Amino acid sequence: MQQRILDLRKALHEHNYNYYVKHEPTISDFEFDKLLAELQQLEQAHPEYNDPNSPTQRVGSDIDEQFVHENHSYPMLSLANSYSFEDLKEFDNRVKKALGMEHVVYTCELKYDGVAISLRYTDGALTRALTRGDGVQGDNITANARTIRSIPTLLHGSFPYEIEIRGEVCMPRAKFEAFNKLRSEAGEQPFANPRNAAAGSLKLQNSAQVARRPLDAFMYYLPDHQPSDSHFENLEIARSWGFNVPPVAQKCNTIEQIFAYIELWDKKRTALPFDIDGIVIKVDSIRLQQELGFTAKIPRWAIAYKFKAEEARTRLLSIDYQVGRTGAITPVANLELVRLAGTLVKRASLYNSEQIAQLDLHIDDYVFIEKGGEIIPKVTRADVQTRSLFAQRVEFITHCPECGAELVRVPGEAVFYCPNSEHCAPQIKGKIEHFVGRKAMNIGLAEATIDQLFKANLIRNYADLYTLTYDSVIQLERFAEKSARNLLQSIEDSKKVPFAKVFFAMGIRHVGETIAKTIVKKYPSIDAIAAASIMDLEAIPEVGSKIAESVKQFLKNPENRAIIEQLREHGVQLQVLETEQAQAEPVSQALAGKSIVVSGVFATKSRDELKALIEAHGGKNASSVSKNTDFILAGEGIGPSKLEKAQQLGIPIVSEEEFLGKLL
Ligand code: IVH
Repeated sequence: MQQRILDLRKALHEHNYNYYVKHEPTISDFEFDKLLAELQQLEQAHPEYNDPNSPTQRVGSDIDEQFVHENHSYPMLSLANSYSFEDLKEFDNRVKKALGMEHVVYTCELKYDGVAISLRYTDGALTRALTRGDGVQGDNITANARTIRSIPTLLHGSFPYEIEIRGEVCMPRAKFEAFNKLRSEAGEQPFANPRNAAAGSLKLQNSAQVARRPLDAFMYYLPDHQPSDSHFENLEIARSWGFNVPPVAQKCNTIEQIFAYIELWDKKRTALPFDIDGIVIKVDSIRLQQELGFTAKIPRWAIAYKFKAEEARTRLLSIDYQVGRTGAITPVANLELVRLAGTLVKRASLYNSEQIAQLDLHIDDYVFIEKGGEIIPKVTRADVQTRSLFAQRVEFITHCPECGAELVRVPGEAVFYCPNSEHCAPQIKGKIEHFVGRKAMNIGLAEATIDQLFKANLIRNYADLYTLTYDSVIQLERFAEKSARNLLQSIEDSKKVPFAKVFFAMGIRHVGETIAKTIVKKYPSIDAIAAASIMDLEAIPEVGSKIAESVKQFLKNPENRAIIEQLREHGVQLQVLETEQAQAEPVSQALAGKSIVVSGVFATKSRDELKALIEAHGGKNASSVSKNTDFILAGEGIGPSKLEKAQQLGIPIVSEEEFLGKLL
């Protein structure tokens, strides 16, 4: 049995490597899932063979952890930057002079635009992952790193007993765009670029959430235990151990070859799935690297060549403040028309108030704009030298440009909100647009038509859509008999949309499509959700306090309640139908009526999986220990206060093994 577990793990590690690192899978996803399921089953039946580096453990844990600072074994240094071929010639001369050599071989590789990470492997197993921190000390983010599929948890082949390896965690561009879209849909502030998204993800306190972020890691440096004297060879060897090292590094014998490599990748970089911001040039021989050594901050044997971002200079005319459906205020710069990377640009993002303050913008400033990872260009800096003496500093608005309400700021966030959600036109229209969206009520209604209906005073909220009649719609410009009937039919059809989508359609801040589904699964009607306390909602895995509070606040608001009643009267689904519910019937009633608290880290299952099992067997997940708790399902590192309380109240503590036994 143990042998089969070990064989499966080995095979799955190999398949992960083929898929995530070599990009050459040798089996289908279906076959992979079958092997993974078999391993999961065996591990569950034999918790004694538990291994945190098993391929089944990539899902993370939803235990919140405060990161512990730890010292790096070797400081994590930065690189000297260069911006021209002249700079590189000087670097080459410096190196040759210091070594007293006429000929030096370099390795050129990509400069990944992400977040630095340092990994340690002991006897081939991932034992520690640190962020750069201040270069001397970093945050221990091992649990988060384990969820990144291209970071091997176990190494292949023959490797030194201790390895330290450094690299960069990135979010591929296409995945970043999709991820940001989901964030916006949930009313959350999107990330400015893939690098920020990667940085934000690595710092999440909950590794189960990190597991859902599409992260990738590229390795580029072994600070010690180099297997050969050539850095280029070492990269190849690191790849053979299972690390993700793109096979595009190149040894260069002359400075001209370095220039050619840079020119090639400057052209090809937009075709890469991830962002690079330059090329790193390293002396290839480790012996020569050691001879050259380090200054306090940077190695003398390497230099980064930074690509020029496509940049343009133009005048800042004014700033518009857009109000989103959740009331978030987004500043946008209006610019004098300018050409940038082949397109004409007259608007650029400014993100939020902090960004404006940081850039110290003044109206009429000449500013530089750049195309980053995102589609809309961004303002990167002001040309302070050409600023007029009388130029007026941009002060972020204090009141909503649409309705005049005083703006509020959530403590700790950089975003200002207009709190007047019920009467602020763009918020109302935005909410209606969201409501009719394809993933929500799926009503065929264009933005311009919403505007028309709003201006004609026919709708003031999304429930008003159900009061529209043929006579009121046909009067509108551009409406003919057919289009009016189609619209009304589409509205009528939306009354059959399942409650989970209706709940999402309501446009509650922080409640995206998935969270809406999760909440509805637990509380299958709007009344049940309204009756749940913040604590009840927070007890649902994946629902944090921000979401729970937002839901409660929304449902407490009298205007929202009135809208919900209007929806009810019109026959919109405000509860899960019995036919839908039948599909989600529990697997068994083994835990019927039992209130269970899950705490700690478990050997074979994640906390989410255990909570799902509890529900599937008729039990209830509770977040805190009380006299109503039937038992505590305890893993390693269960919170001491929970343990103490359980002992006081005489509540049984059940191990994972015992628990799984109950379900057999
Ligand atoms: S080597 C001691 N190679 O860029 C030398 N760094 O701006 C360690 N980076 O600190 C760095 N791609 O976080 C190296 N191929 C690459 C890289 C790379 C990205 C990052 C790294 C470094 C920063 C300096």
